[in-house]
Amino acid sequence: MMETATGSRSLRGLARPELQALRAYEPDSDGIRVRLDSNESPFDLPARLKESVLDQLRAIPFNRYPQRLAAALKGTISSRLGVSETQITMGNGLDEVIYIILQTFGPGKKVVIQRPSFTTYGFAALAAGADLRAVPLGPRLELGVAGIIEEANARAGAPADGPCIAILCNPHNPTGGRMAEDEIQAVLQATAALVVVDEAYVEFAGGSVLRLLEQYDRLIVLRTLSKAFGLAGVRVGYSVSSSEIAAELAKVRQPFNLDSLALSIAQTALQDGAYCREAVARIVQERERLASRLARIPGVTCLPSCTNFILFRTDQPEAATVRDALRRQGVSVRIFPGEPMLRGYLRVSCGTVEEDNAFLAALQNALADANHESLEDGE
Ligand SMILES: Cc1ncc(COP(=O)(O)O)c(C=O)c1O
Repeated sequence: MMETATGSRSLRGLARPELQALRAYEPDSDGIRVRLDSNESPFDLPARLKESVLDQLRAIPFNRYPQRLAAALKGTISSRLGVSETQITMGNGLDEVIYIILQTFGPGKKVVIQRPSFTTYGFAALAAGADLRAVPLGPRLELGVAGIIEEANARAGAPADGPCIAILCNPHNPTGGRMAEDEIQAVLQATAALVVVDEAYVEFAGGSVLRLLEQYDRLIVLRTLSKAFGLAGVRVGYSVSSSEIAAELAKVRQPFNLDSLALSIAQTALQDGAYCREAVARIVQERERLASRLARIPGVTCLPSCTNFILFRTDQPEAATVRDALRRQGVSVRIFPGEPMLRGYLRVSCGTVEEDNAFLAALQNALADANHESLEDGE
């Protein structure tokens, strides 16, 4: 039977008030030829590795839960990073790991994040019933930890006793910048917070804080195979923490959250490694070319990036004008409607040379048209 209008309204009322203010993520790729909005890698897993995965799949019993494959992948991650298997928590994408961490430690706790930063932190914190505190970046989108430390230590209005959670995105999405290890260490030294450092883009930048895990048992480092490894569609991410923290996360994580297919692909990708290094080198080279071409377009200013994307602004005050004009030409980039500090900014992922050239040409058209229209308006 159909719900009445009143019926669905009252159902919406069942949701927690903090969730009612949120809008669910809506992927939107209709008519898009060049997708540069999600910081994906332009490079798929090489064909020889795909062949190897297909061979392995023939031997995998699909009627069995995948615990053996999960243990094998943990083993590979632990030897790559030089940590114990008991320190690793795997997730169906890093997004899921973030949700698991906040479900485990977040309810009723203060969660301090940078604003702007990766949107999942806010969603996961609110879904966990945490008290979300967003600390703005500097006026020129500078990263820094002074505000994070102050907010983490602030007593006023603190919802619950005990340490809070501070989440630092490093390298930072969406600015593309990064903080030095000393700054992360300063947060660990100056607060009692559980410090989560999201290193989704670390392969493009270096400077991981993994080695601080030897000193701090309340540090969690996050990694994903979605970016440098080019496996966004496979959904594999993981955290590295103290074994004590991992043991708590294991109570909340679904036991079989990664399927046999994802586990086999991730295993094959991590065991090779060479293709990832090559992809990173190509992406970094292309990023530099893209940045210098962008900077030559009149009215365009780019932020320096150590990731696989670039944040830039144009002479148009509203980023949506430019985003829409790019879309009409089959190119998608990201804008940030909910972030006042990023009103005129757009984020473009580094694609192949051909994709980036298509984007650059579309951007030049979009800006020429917008300026032409504003001249006509002024006549
Ligand atoms: C900073 C950051 N963390 C985590 C993720 C999520 O990664 P995954 O695809 O593994 O869920 C992203 C994806 O864009 C990201 O930018």
